[in-house]
Amino acid sequence: MVLLDGKYTSAAIKEGIAAKVREMKEAGKPVPHLVAVLVGNDGASMTYVANKEAACAQVGFKSTVLRFPDTISEEQLLAEVDKLNKDASVDGFIVQLPLPKHISEKKVIAAISPDKDVDGFHIINVGKLTQSLPTFVSATPKGILSLLDQYNVETAGKHCVVIGRSNIVGRPISILLNQKGYDCTVTVCHSRSKNIEVFTRMADIIIAAVGIPEFVTGDMVKEGAIVVDVGITRVPDDTKPKGYRIVGDVKFDEVAPKCSYITPVPGGVGPMTIVSLLQNTLQAAEARM
Ligand code: GUN
Repeated sequence: MVLLDGKYTSAAIKEGIAAKVREMKEAGKPVPHLVAVLVGNDGASMTYVANKEAACAQVGFKSTVLRFPDTISEEQLLAEVDKLNKDASVDGFIVQLPLPKHISEKKVIAAISPDKDVDGFHIINVGKLTQSLPTFVSATPKGILSLLDQYNVETAGKHCVVIGRSNIVGRPISILLNQKGYDCTVTVCHSRSKNIEVFTRMADIIIAAVGIPEFVTGDMVKEGAIVVDVGITRVPDDTKPKGYRIVGDVKFDEVAPKCSYITPVPGGVGPMTIVSLLQNTLQAAEARM
């Protein structure tokens, strides 16, 4: 069993990004600038945004976090998005999800200029992705592909079972792994699927993106499978300094011994997501030069 090490892989990619930033500086160009919009006080969202800020600092990007209370109106938030669209000093920006219930995520995402949409969530960018056209590929699917590439994992002709159909992970990764170059046969399971274990037992590759801690157990996985765990649920744990621990969608101790490759949690997909956002921001900055 080989661990797909996202911490190591992302560190190597970051070094490459940092080298490019140094070249930009030496050429007298502005460094890439990423803005994150954070609404409210959701603990997980605050942690993700803090991690994104720290990663920007590591590679020499400029980063700005715009914080708003969860009482901000949809209209006010749309006005902030419009300002960022027009701000020439901003290469790319993200609006951290989820948003409070009174704000339509669809409307906010639709308001983001597609050429600054480094999350790749805008329907124009999603449309391009479905047609295999160059675009911003959203960070978690992009990170999963980079990790599989890094370890030369053969995907062609393999049966990949994706568990979860979210716009952020499940749906885009199912499309990408099916495209030319990856060439998987893809099955997408979701919360209404019956007998998910029947599908997962047939899978050469499992992408677990369901958001239920330890959903994938040892009996659901065939010998030699490749397992990618996208889950990052906070589970209360009084023995930890923060009072919680991060648990993936895969019961690692049971599943890992059966796998040819598996991602750990933490240290698998999580750091790859962040470095992919940096790559997208660099892409946005380079497109503007
Ligand atoms: N919430 C969970 N994942 C993401 C992400 O990749 N981008 C944004 N903007 N919000 C998220």
